[in-house]
Amino acid sequence: MQNDIQEVLYSEQQIQDKVKEMGELISRDFEGRNPLVICVLKGAFIFMADLVKQITVPLEIDFMAVSSYGASTKSSGVVKIIKDLDVPVEGRHILIVEDIIDSGLTLSYLIDVLERRNALSVTVAALFDKPARRTVDLDADYKGFVIPDAFVVGYGLDYGEKYRNLPFVGILKSEVYSH
Ligand code: XMP
Ligand code: MG
Repeated sequence: MQNDIQEVLYSEQQIQDKVKEMGELISRDFEGRNPLVICVLKGAFIFMADLVKQITVPLEIDFMAVSSYGASTKSSGVVKIIKDLDVPVEGRHILIVEDIIDSGLTLSYLIDVLERRNALSVTVAALFDKPARRTVDLDADYKGFVIPDAFVVGYGLDYGEKYRNLPFVGILKSEVYSH
């Protein structure tokens, strides 16, 4: 598995430090707001688990799954809810936890859905941001790392469902997905 990685972008320690920093900011901003924290499956599952441990205000969690790239590295542009939330969002302060913002299509769709369901506020925490590939005007409220336009795996991020369990984040060798 490690042989398929061209370069480690962020080590386990660098990620932990960043997540702690993000958790501190979120704790400060969400004081007294009891947010509903939504993990966007599957890519954000590790980030979500680490992030909520760094948030000191009372919160609730829920999970949502939307259509993703499948085994491809490019978005189809079509977003579909595969698993919906278990709880209503009406009147709630929502914090969406996302692994990476690429085109921005997934998030803009999710934000739209939650706003139409009358969430009180919708805020986004994304561990990675690839601004070079954005097709919709969207930015995360809390952002971990801004990364170059390369396909990354590890720390929850996959290619064809593999590599999610790597504790670091790296760039996949192009020969791994070019054939
Ligand atoms: P959009 O384009 O909608 O995409 O912003 C967001 C989703 O695309 C996936 N994605 C990646 N997954 N390595 C991955 O493993 C990447 O470099 C990458 N770029 C985008 C991811 O699931 C995210 O939720
Ligand atoms: Mg994925």
